[in-house]
Amino acid sequence: MPRESVAGGIAIVVDVLRASTTIVTALEEGASFVKPVSGVDEARRLKHGDFSSCLLGGERGGLRIAGFDLGNSPAEYTHSVVAGRGVLMTTTNGTLAIERCEAAREILVGSFVNRTSVARSAFLLASKYGIDAIHLVCAGTDGEETDEDILGAGAIVDAGIVAAKGHSLFDPCSQKASFEFLRVINGSGDSRGRLAARLRQSLGGKNLIRLGMDSDLILAAAVDRCRLVPYQCSRTGTLMSFDDLKCIDS
Ligand code: MLT
Repeated sequence: MPRESVAGGIAIVVDVLRASTTIVTALEEGASFVKPVSGVDEARRLKHGDFSSCLLGGERGGLRIAGFDLGNSPAEYTHSVVAGRGVLMTTTNGTLAIERCEAAREILVGSFVNRTSVARSAFLLASKYGIDAIHLVCAGTDGEETDEDILGAGAIVDAGIVAAKGHSLFDPCSQKASFEFLRVINGSGDSRGRLAARLRQSLGGKNLIRLGMDSDLILAAAVDRCRLVPYQCSRTGTLMSFDDLKCIDS
């Protein structure tokens, strides 16, 4: 994605397996902030400098990085571990995608778990600034789009159409992804199980199964489990919980 394509707009970064799901979870469980960092060395350098009280989290090849406190599984980011702590996080694709959105006016992080809140917050910001486009930025894997992120974007588009009472600020081609999301969850029986089954067939899903982390797919498939929306503070570069009331009032 060319960096300038999101310039001045609202960007929602989507990496459902697993960076965006894990960032939402960390903040929901009480982390004071998550600072996305592109490189492992940079994360270690920050930890030895101004961010010494932070936890180090993230992955390379899906696994926890040597010497880090946490990997990239949402299951690790529990209240007892992260509450009141900052987290320096570096992942292969997700944190890089956030960095590539630096020209956006606002950066939010979205996943299945917060798809309604993130869609609603994006619309609030868009109307506050008079912006008529919201960019869904799929992190993908090594520069390639992945099925799971497109499906996650579809979930957000679907919620966004409801939030905007039928009018969409998303690109018309993104509607195809929302139809696919609805097709997956609207079959018979348990919709979370169906979504997890679909994630198992995706590139990111297959990687996690190979690493024995199938349970992360179930966590990622919990649609609307969280109300929290991470947004990036332009001053500090940290992701914090977006307070939509503050946004409307200011
Ligand atoms: C990434 O940023 O590439 C992913 O979140 C990978 C992972 O979770 O293993």
